[in-house]
Amino acid sequence: MKLTTWISGLLLFVVSIGIAIAFSHFTASYSPLAADVGFSQTPASAAASPVQFPSNYRQQFRHYATVDCPNSGVVRQMYIDRPSLESLKASEAVPSGTVIVMETHSARRGDGDRLVPTQLNNLFVREKRQGWNISNSGEWQSAWYSPSGSLVSDHQNSCIGCHIQVRDRDYLFTLPALQMAVRTGQPQYQETEFGTSVCR
Ligand code: HEC
Repeated sequence: MKLTTWISGLLLFVVSIGIAIAFSHFTASYSPLAADVGFSQTPASAAASPVQFPSNYRQQFRHYATVDCPNSGVVRQMYIDRPSLESLKASEAVPSGTVIVMETHSARRGDGDRLVPTQLNNLFVREKRQGWNISNSGEWQSAWYSPSGSLVSDHQNSCIGCHIQVRDRDYLFTLPALQMAVRTGQPQYQETEFGTSVCR
């Protein structure tokens, strides 16, 4: 009797060790994959995206650049949160906590060389936080919102595919314009360095 109790106890112990090993293997082998693809592969609700819609950016952020895309008739407006802009006056490194918003507008030709924005279509947001360490994106995560603030996509890979080209500018295409805006106190203007496909 005592022997059977002892054997069943031993069996129970062995089975629980087995379950513990299987479980830790499952989590260990899946978490690096999650890091590789960013933070989400499934459409997420706005509440689930770590990059929140900055509803007050028009009042609280500073406009630092306008980029015309003449081939596709799109104007892009870039904004940065004020504390990060202030911090850039003292140091060239973009600080943790930076939020950058890019508006894209349809546009028509004006009288001069510049395009004239006609309608706001999309908001692209990138946010940098120490410790995020997203594969091929440094510490930046991204989200794409409609102008009303609903989340269109937070798939990281679609943004990383292009922004990795400017890894040496901390993954920001308009970093030179941002630094010039900090130095001069004036928003910068440029045409896109790229073709039609980039601009929507
Ligand atoms: C096809 C390439 C491409 C893809 C994909 C792309 N971007 Fe960009 N992004 C650019 C370019 C190029 C600029 C600079 C403006 C310009 O030249 O039109 C830019 C600029 C930005 C900026 C302003 C800061 C900066 O880097 O200059 C933000 C914010 C931004 N993109 C967010 C996003 C988000 C969010 C996604 C994914 C949903 C995304 N981008 C996907 C090419 C891309």
